[in-house]
Amino acid sequence: MQKNILVTVVFLFITLFSCSDKKNSTNQTSNSKVEQKVDSVLALMTLQEKIGQMNQYNGSWDVTGPASNVSDQEKLEKLKNGEVGSMLNVLSVKATREAQKLVMDNSRLKIPLIIGYDVIHGYKTIFPVPLGESASWDLDIIKKSAAIAASEASAAGVNWTFAPMIDVSRDARWGRIMEGSGEDPFLTAKIGVARIQGFQGDDLAKNYTIAACAKHFAGYGFAEAGRDYNIANIGEYELQNAILPPFKAAAEAGVATFMNSFNEIDGIPATGHKILQRDILKEDWNWDGFMVSDWGSIGEMIAHGYAKDLSHAAEIAANAGSDMDMESYAYEAHLEELVNNGKVDINHIDDAVKRILRVKFKLGLFDDPYKYCNEEREKNEIFTEENQAFSREVAKKSIVLLKNDGNILPLNKNIKNIAVIGPLADDKDTPIGNWRAKGGRNTAVSLLEGIKNAVPSSTNIIHEKGCDIVTNKAIGRTFLLPLEFNTTDKSGIPAAVKAAKNAEAVILAIGEMALQTGEGRSQTNIGFLGVQQELLEAVYKVNKNIVIVLMNGRPMDVSWAAEKVPSILECWQLGSQSGNAIADVLFGDYNPSGKLPVSFPHNVGQEPLYYNQKNTGRPYNATHVTFSAYRDAPKTALFPFGYGLSYTTFEYKNLKLDKNEIPVNGKIIVSVDISNIGNMDGEEVVQLYIRDLVGSLTRPIRELKGFEKIFLKTGETKNITFTINQESLQFYTVNKKWEVEPGNFEVWVGGDSNASLKSTFKVIE
Ligand code: BGC
Repeated sequence: MQKNILVTVVFLFITLFSCSDKKNSTNQTSNSKVEQKVDSVLALMTLQEKIGQMNQYNGSWDVTGPASNVSDQEKLEKLKNGEVGSMLNVLSVKATREAQKLVMDNSRLKIPLIIGYDVIHGYKTIFPVPLGESASWDLDIIKKSAAIAASEASAAGVNWTFAPMIDVSRDARWGRIMEGSGEDPFLTAKIGVARIQGFQGDDLAKNYTIAACAKHFAGYGFAEAGRDYNIANIGEYELQNAILPPFKAAAEAGVATFMNSFNEIDGIPATGHKILQRDILKEDWNWDGFMVSDWGSIGEMIAHGYAKDLSHAAEIAANAGSDMDMESYAYEAHLEELVNNGKVDINHIDDAVKRILRVKFKLGLFDDPYKYCNEEREKNEIFTEENQAFSREVAKKSIVLLKNDGNILPLNKNIKNIAVIGPLADDKDTPIGNWRAKGGRNTAVSLLEGIKNAVPSSTNIIHEKGCDIVTNKAIGRTFLLPLEFNTTDKSGIPAAVKAAKNAEAVILAIGEMALQTGEGRSQTNIGFLGVQQELLEAVYKVNKNIVIVLMNGRPMDVSWAAEKVPSILECWQLGSQSGNAIADVLFGDYNPSGKLPVSFPHNVGQEPLYYNQKNTGRPYNATHVTFSAYRDAPKTALFPFGYGLSYTTFEYKNLKLDKNEIPVNGKIIVSVDISNIGNMDGEEVVQLYIRDLVGSLTRPIRELKGFEKIFLKTGETKNITFTINQESLQFYTVNKKWEVEPGNFEVWVGGDSNASLKSTFKVIE
């Protein structure tokens, strides 16, 4: 009886406010309505129900619905009791409906679940891996690809994605570099915001949008030596200036949730980091979403040597501001006691629960817990032709032309015979990449298929694999052990050499297989694994007319190839339409426009390598031996950040600043003319860099502060302007504030981070 009255009260509140919502137009009003609803629900909750909201379970439930093993049975009981706030990996409308129904039919307060999944670069229609997509520098298509991912995921029951990953990452050895946007905080912030806008749209309550999650907060990309989960020793200023800006941008863009990270920072695990989670994110940035822990990261504080036991871990995490426990089972086991014995303040619990309820209200789950459960949508709106076409669009724009000596590319479609060689040439799986959500095995258009689709039937295509990358034992396995990587089998190489011998051109597809990057995939060798290098050299001996099609999720050591082979096309792992997109570029239907979001080293010993480094006290000096460099390799990148060629040539001229002196809150308009002086229409990413010459803290030798992707017809010139303002000039100074410091600045505009067109200006008191 009492239960029924309570339920009626909750729903009366919700219905009342939902109806009046429709009449209210301003966000502010609807926000205050959401707050009232949140408070009204919170007021009805017992401590146990509150802790339940902070508890997330992994489902691993698929179309068949809840499984029947013992632990699932226990989970079912908890769901019925309203002791679970969220589930992850519950996939399909049927499974989502069943999980939601358990809560709605049985629990006292009927608070709907929020259901999360790693929708990282597409749901079933797969887009390029995030590092690859970032190479497009095209915020519109990035936003749209996230919107399509959200629309497919929402059609299948998902209401929350654990993306975007906005960890600035400078180390090619770190396998998770493929999940982010590379080494630059400005680019990472812009792309992160575009992805958030794509996932969340302008209204979380719409049926096609899902909640996003900015991860991993923070410092995960700085894992020492590129070894996953390793410590990150980051000073306070570096943290503020190099790592936090994308997260601040995400918070300002209204991202619904954050995820903390596995690493420690200077001795404190991120999951137990109060300064990061409570003081900076929730206080200073005034962000009102909720923080989910990373998988098991609360419990991992025991292994870190930071918590005595699981209860202690729960205490630390809850006090530090981790609102939801993913898979540590720490909150459900210990929070009640911790609150009762005064170790965790009930206000912290209330704050966490309010944050979680707020997101659920904004998603519209209280209005309709089954809003993501539409079988028709699931049947008709996933992996559509339209989505495939857009995936091809994004893929071709993500390709970076690294080298094109003698304009070997684009190839003529009427080419008589072409050899398509390499372990990845007819691989339909590698382009799907890691973190592939429901992207099926072997569902990509392979390079060979793409080439066949592009050329007339009269073209003679000879295909030879040449070698594998990994042994058969490793194929199809989710986790690879190091020894399973390499195959030493060279028996296919002679046939590949024979195929290459008489071909007009050789397309050689080499690189990394799908699961070589991603979580737990750190490597100390970033060259070609297996016998790929031998294959390359053997083919090169008989035919120099080679185009390397690189497929990879991290920057690789391609120095031999870069010296010898005329053409290299960086094709990442491009998703469902990979082969067609690569063929578009190979045969000139699309003029490549991608630019590297991360530096490519001469060799792995240079890692971590990034363009926005510090000058040091001993920069290069031709007359000195003891300067900051290597004796056996260059100090600079083989291919720098921002770099990428086109089939046409762009010329930069007339760099002008409207003033050369401004006050700290002033602004400068920078203008430049860009002309397409080549023979093909094309796109160029115009980039603006600055350097603050002297600071209260040392400043990077260059920092990206603006970019614009433009299209120029052959012979056309466009004038592009950028604004340099307080936001571009400020940094987190020695005063522990974001400030612009007076002094001299340099500014460059060009097509990569080595741009040479330069001017200067001064900021005065
Ligand atoms: C990863 C997260 C991911 C989570 C859920 C963790 O291992 O670090 O990025 O969202 O698993 O799958």
